[in-house]
Amino acid sequence: MTLSEPQLSAAAYAFLADLVYRRSRIRLGPDKQAFVSGRLGGQLRAIGCDSFDAYCQLLGSPAGEDEVGAVIDLISTNHTQFFRESEHFEHLALQVLPRATGRPVRVWCAAAASGEEAYSLAIVLAEHFGDAGAEAWTLTASDISRRMLDRCRRAIYESSAVKIPDPALLPRYFRRGFGEWDGFYRVKPALRRRVKVEHVNLFQAAYPWPAGFDVIFCRNVMIYFDVESRQALVERLFEQLAPGGHLFVGHAEGLLGLRHRFRSVAPGVYQRPREARA
Ligand SMILES: C[S@@+](CC[C@H](N)C(=O)[O-])C[C@H]1O[C@@H](n2cnc3c(N)ncnc32)[C@H](O)[C@@H]1O
Repeated sequence: MTLSEPQLSAAAYAFLADLVYRRSRIRLGPDKQAFVSGRLGGQLRAIGCDSFDAYCQLLGSPAGEDEVGAVIDLISTNHTQFFRESEHFEHLALQVLPRATGRPVRVWCAAAASGEEAYSLAIVLAEHFGDAGAEAWTLTASDISRRMLDRCRRAIYESSAVKIPDPALLPRYFRRGFGEWDGFYRVKPALRRRVKVEHVNLFQAAYPWPAGFDVIFCRNVMIYFDVESRQALVERLFEQLAPGGHLFVGHAEGLLGLRHRFRSVAPGVYQRPREARA
């Protein structure tokens, strides 16, 4: 027997695109119908819902609040990797950290997905500060996807994915799995404990911490937002940084076309001036 795929009507698609935009600012264009249908079809089956129209009704009701989170999880693109766009980690290690004056150095990994970027940052910080301990640096990893944040907390990765620039560091920060975990590495507890994992929507009304970060990595997420949302986010990230702090965005992103008060210091690297212009 073959089960027929639920059909996504234009009205249901419009509802879903609007919901996703309001909750995450991820913009689904008119050409994304097949993508949405493909990503959500399995979820409808999993919860026993036989049509997109019924699914939308659930999402629009108070009982559907958890399901909205599932939709965002399924729609968001979570691709990431260790030391992705490695020049940024070099810039951090060679240009930013040696000149950091505040203690602790506060770092925010703002769209951390499954954690590879956050643990790459943690390795750079741990290598730079050595045994200086908890006073030297703090690192917060956040994302809108709870499923990704669970993976970030678990910190188990396929061995083939754990590509770090200096392989000699591997045994320092990772434990090799054995038995049923053969083929996997897990970040060692000492490093895991240094990464505070928080569920944060970049567009939520207020962030759960005081401003004043020295470094923010917010990479490969703005590409999913429209200009208006990017503009609002860049202004917010500026305010989240301490004067002199650095913002890193994906190489494909940049702040081109946006009004901002940053100083551009390297591809995808921006600094909040020490004396911020009003
Ligand atoms: C492609 S991944 C980028 C991961 C990592 N920053 C990197 O560059 O490798 C984009 C991440 O942004 C998250 N995201 C999308 N919209 C978001 C929002 N409004 N607030 C917070 N995170 C969001 C997604 O859940 C996803 O994990």
